[in-house]
Amino acid sequence: MVEEMLRPGLEGVVAAETSLSEVDGQAGRLTIAGYDVAEIAPKARFEEVAFLLWNGHRPTPWETDELSQRLARRREAPRLAYEVLASAKNAASIDALRMAVGLTPVEGSDMENAQNLVGVLPTLVAAHYRLSRGEEPVAPRADLGHVANYLYMLKGEAPEPEAVRAVETYLNAAVDHGLNASTFVARAIVSTGSDLVSAVVGALGSLKGPLHGGAPGPALETVFEIGASERAEAVLRAKLERGERLMGFGHRVYKVRDPRADVLKEEIERLFATAGDRALYELAMDVEKTALRLLEEYKPGRSIRTNVEFNTALLLHGVGLPVSLFTPTFSLGRVVGWTAHAMEQRKANRVIRPQSKYVGPQGLLWT
Ligand code: ACO
Repeated sequence: MVEEMLRPGLEGVVAAETSLSEVDGQAGRLTIAGYDVAEIAPKARFEEVAFLLWNGHRPTPWETDELSQRLARRREAPRLAYEVLASAKNAASIDALRMAVGLTPVEGSDMENAQNLVGVLPTLVAAHYRLSRGEEPVAPRADLGHVANYLYMLKGEAPEPEAVRAVETYLNAAVDHGLNASTFVARAIVSTGSDLVSAVVGALGSLKGPLHGGAPGPALETVFEIGASERAEAVLRAKLERGERLMGFGHRVYKVRDPRADVLKEEIERLFATAGDRALYELAMDVEKTALRLLEEYKPGRSIRTNVEFNTALLLHGVGLPVSLFTPTFSLGRVVGWTAHAMEQRKANRVIRPQSKYVGPQGLLWT
């Protein structure tokens, strides 16, 4: 009976009902709480998307202001968190974040805990980034929006509006994506009756893995390795000849297009028209064109398209973020999804408890 049901990786198993997002791989569509990702991500403020996922409806302007102020009041991290970040200044950013976020007090309602976590996460990421460079953390500013304040805390100066919009679109597009590994972990933790801080610590642990949150860095490194458009064909062809995968292309679920890649592409075009490294942008566009042509030649009919990671890398690089901040920055968007899923799980809870099939020995004697 158990054998019949064995599904490694739980592939194809439907383990939750959700109103938060729908991933339609066949149509190449991502819906976020009723809105197509292309409709909501480039237009909404991050605080509005957080409200939408947490409350199930679009906020009024008053509700947006109210939530923005609440999040701004929760930006200050506990003193102990700064001490932990300082002693972990040589650790990977995502590890330091996991350690420090665990110091967030568990208090009040799930919603209050969700707001505490979303409010404080950018402060922790930015503080660790600066400490790792031998710089003092920059205190958060309550008069800036969520995204503008994050960029301000990283660099110590108010960011350009184009950079804020680009990162806001990115975080909105990254906010939720069905029952991915980290979201599943968050739901499993809360399903035992545990709290949202624990859920986010666990989710961060699973996001660290290169099979989940870690691909944009390598995608950008390929562009750097190529270095000049005329080398693109030779370098990429050599990789394919060696049987290597081209980073930033292909997707397990999206076979016709990755809708998030398309949203970010438009943002990148806007961003690089006014800021960022224009030469790198043009090189990346040539690399993309060549990669798509060669993938069609080497893997005909497989429909391998540009994925979200390729454009994420360009966007974050374009606003001046180093590769080490790519995965932690992703978590600043996805933490809204984790907390929204945790609250959704709580409302119709059943402990997440799949079965395993025993394949070990039987009847051994302890002599
Ligand atoms: N470069 C070269 N070949 C590829 C690539 C690629 N990027 N992607 C798929 N292929 C090949 C496979 O090797 C396979 O070849 P084969 O049939 O000759 O053995 C064929 O195309 C079909 O592969 P699929 O089954 O469609 O792809 P799969 O589901 O196995 O892989 C994955 C999806 C893991 C994302 C893959 O495309 C890949 O490794 N891409 C590069 C890494 C990357 O960009 N990861 C980020 C993904 S986006 C995200 O996770 C949010």
